[in-house]
Amino acid sequence: MEIKIERAKAADAKAILDFTKVCGGETDNLSFGEKGIQISLEEEEQYIASLENSDKNVFYVARDGEEIVGTGSFSAFQQERMAHRGEFGISVRKSHWNRGIGTKLLEKILDFAKNTAEAEIVSLEVRSDNKSAIHLYSKFGFEKIGTFRGYFKVNGELVDFDIMELFLK
Ligand SMILES: CC(C)(COP(=O)(O)OP(=O)(O)OC[C@H]1O[C@@H](n2cnc3c(N)ncnc32)[C@H](O)[C@@H]1OP(=O)(O)O)[C@@H](O)C(=O)NCCC(=O)NCCS
Repeated sequence: MEIKIERAKAADAKAILDFTKVCGGETDNLSFGEKGIQISLEEEEQYIASLENSDKNVFYVARDGEEIVGTGSFSAFQQERMAHRGEFGISVRKSHWNRGIGTKLLEKILDFAKNTAEAEIVSLEVRSDNKSAIHLYSKFGFEKIGTFRGYFKVNGELVDFDIMELFLK
């Protein structure tokens, strides 16, 4: 089945919340676990609705048929002296890893960041042992600029993250 990527709509809020539970339970790479992001359906609907027409923030869903199998979001910073920068997050459910969905999501995110949000720099933090994500980001030109030691604490263990950035201009 062909994977379709499009901007999320408020009506996707429930499926997105469910998706965060699936992904959170499948990996320790995210800031949440199997309980997902734990905000109310109403809050999520409002959040997604607020992004639908934004030219600074975007939330994409990747669908396999009707099912959401990946999400990718980009947010430009709001403060004046940081507004030239943005950050993104990306998740694909495990059953669909290594099929190019992360690559497609990142293409859309960077296109939006550059051409719509007009961001100059995109940055991210990624677990230093998350090989596939680091491979993916490096493929698009992201470079490691440092290590944030102990960025996460998972089951009592501190976990280091790479800080990466990409200049779009
Ligand atoms: C990271 C993630 C988004 C990648 O999504 P994906 O749909 O599998 O991505 P793609 O298939 O487009 O690309 C994965 C790449 O990693 C490569 N890869 C897979 N395992 C790897 C490994 N152990 N070492 C190095 N590269 C690896 C694949 O070969 C592929 O590279 P290619 O396009 O050059 O062939 C997905 O694994 C995921 O959601 N993981 C859990 C959440 C997460 O870690 N999010 C990122 C938080 S910063």
